[in-house]
Amino acid sequence: MGTYSHFEVKLLSGAVGAVLSGIDISEELSADAIVEIRQAWLEHLVIFFREQQLSDERLMAFGRRFGDLYLHPNLAKKGPNPEVIHVVKEPEATRVVGAEWHTDTGHVECPPMGAILHALEVPPRGGDTLFANQYLAYETLSDGLKAALDGMKAVHDDSRVAGPNANKGRSTQTRDDEEWTPTENAHPVVRTHPETGRKALFVNVASAHKFEGMRRAESAALLEYLFKHATRPEFTCRFNWEPGSVAFWDNRCLKHIAVNDYQGHRRDMRRVQLVGDRPA
Ligand code: SIN
Repeated sequence: MGTYSHFEVKLLSGAVGAVLSGIDISEELSADAIVEIRQAWLEHLVIFFREQQLSDERLMAFGRRFGDLYLHPNLAKKGPNPEVIHVVKEPEATRVVGAEWHTDTGHVECPPMGAILHALEVPPRGGDTLFANQYLAYETLSDGLKAALDGMKAVHDDSRVAGPNANKGRSTQTRDDEEWTPTENAHPVVRTHPETGRKALFVNVASAHKFEGMRRAESAALLEYLFKHATRPEFTCRFNWEPGSVAFWDNRCLKHIAVNDYQGHRRDMRRVQLVGDRPA
């Protein structure tokens, strides 16, 4: 494990995730501190901070230390800070954003590099987020399957998460206007992380519906196997939110899922995403 001078690190599981303490990310941090945070992020894939007071401006400012902020094609709203997405579940809502294991916005040509999620209000219990390490998901495949997947692409679209049927029961609304049509892009099933050089599985039940050059029915069994394999418990960690908690995840080598187990309670989060590159 790396050694860091600007914060302490506590691992959240044997597979992924670390809580960084002793650092206030609402402050203007030194370049040195940002380099260390980035190293810890690359090492642990998702890093967490507790007891942070971040206005929208400070959340955006922290995000900009790691890259340009991303404008979400289906969630961005008009207003002064369209980069800040409100991920909210009101007590009467029955569904949440991110209720299936997914990488964020996998259907676009260049999915976001990462996301930073800040909790303002959390339910008295529940509402956790789980993360799954997709390097491990790839590395634990058999050599035969690794060879078969080499060069294969999966076709992703946003028809499960946006459009006419997406918003029923949800407080945070995705685009469903009449001009909306699904966006489709093919991405490698195994991508190479541009910073670490490691290979990660990159298929997504929320967006990948077939392999390029194949029919849906022909793709279904193998996709199903990969979706299930990718989220084996031993690849995961689980984060329990408190007001002021922050998660900063690497969308290039992780999946995550929001647990919808707090019916009747409110959960209110703010998220920014960082511009990413085309998976290769
Ligand atoms: C998301 O999928 O980005 C939402 C995660 C969460 O609300 O825990």
